[in-house]
Amino acid sequence: MKVTQAEINSFTEVLYAKYGFDFTCYEPQSLNRRVNRVLHVLGYNTIHDLWTDMLQKPSLVYKFMDEVSVGLTAMFRDPVMWSRLRSVLYNEFKSKQNLNIWIAGCSTGEEVYTLAIVLYEMGMLHQTRILATDMNHTALEVARSGVYHELKIVDYEKNYTEYNKFGTFSRYFKRNAPHVMMRPDLLSNTTFKYHNLVTDKIDQDFDLIFCRNVMIYFDADTKSKLVKNFHRNINDNGYLITGFFDSIFCEENQRLFNSELSGFRMFKKSPAMIINRTNLSA
Ligand SMILES: C[S@@+](CC[C@H](N)C(=O)[O-])C[C@H]1O[C@@H](n2cnc3c(N)ncnc32)[C@H](O)[C@@H]1O
Repeated sequence: MKVTQAEINSFTEVLYAKYGFDFTCYEPQSLNRRVNRVLHVLGYNTIHDLWTDMLQKPSLVYKFMDEVSVGLTAMFRDPVMWSRLRSVLYNEFKSKQNLNIWIAGCSTGEEVYTLAIVLYEMGMLHQTRILATDMNHTALEVARSGVYHELKIVDYEKNYTEYNKFGTFSRYFKRNAPHVMMRPDLLSNTTFKYHNLVTDKIDQDFDLIFCRNVMIYFDADTKSKLVKNFHRNINDNGYLITGFFDSIFCEENQRLFNSELSGFRMFKKSPAMIINRTNLSA
């Protein structure tokens, strides 16, 4: 089964026109790979068959969205970044009473638990509010449940030990083979919410915004708009934190962030210019 680019383009256009879900700004090759995978998973031979079923069963659109956006994640992914973040939090935000953090594209929640553990160990969790968003409903449900397979936890524990060789990762979950359940109190200041980065606005300001391994999905123009929107949502002295493979800077938005910690993919806001908050889709 091989879907052509022309078929994908028509499909994303009708999907947008009929249901308002915008995939037209996704990077074509990656979207092509993903759509082919989804057809395989959902048991369709052609994109036309999928579309015909979608017209009769609109709930299939959500299934498609969830499958197309499914993404890899892990706790304490890139342990060096988390160590560096600990220093930034300690040096720049320890005395801030209300720390606001947005994790955009939180997937199944591993990054959220990681951040909560980092803050908890620093004695900063109580002073922090975390908003965790994604456009994948199924992933958000897993994130809310805090239940993960124990085989994944083995890897997460290795990452954690790299981050904190004196810590005990097992204190953060309860075993219920073959799963573990994360300690619910880690999320007492966290809100999970459905949010599409391409079409939805957030009217709130944050000290830190994480958007790791999400922008790789988007074309250059969309990435640039997202980075501008993040700049608007970040308080002065706040940070945007991206993944190692997210290249966010085009010439136009280079002056929005200071690149001093770019090796760790942490970009401090430079109050370069005031931009009005607008809807990305506008
Ligand atoms: C590879 S995962 C990254 C998870 C986590 N940030 C990390 O780095 O471990 C990418 C996530 O981006 C989400 N995503 C993709 N497009 C999105 C959009 N337009 N709005 C919000 N989330 C999106 C996917 O649903 C997926 O959960």
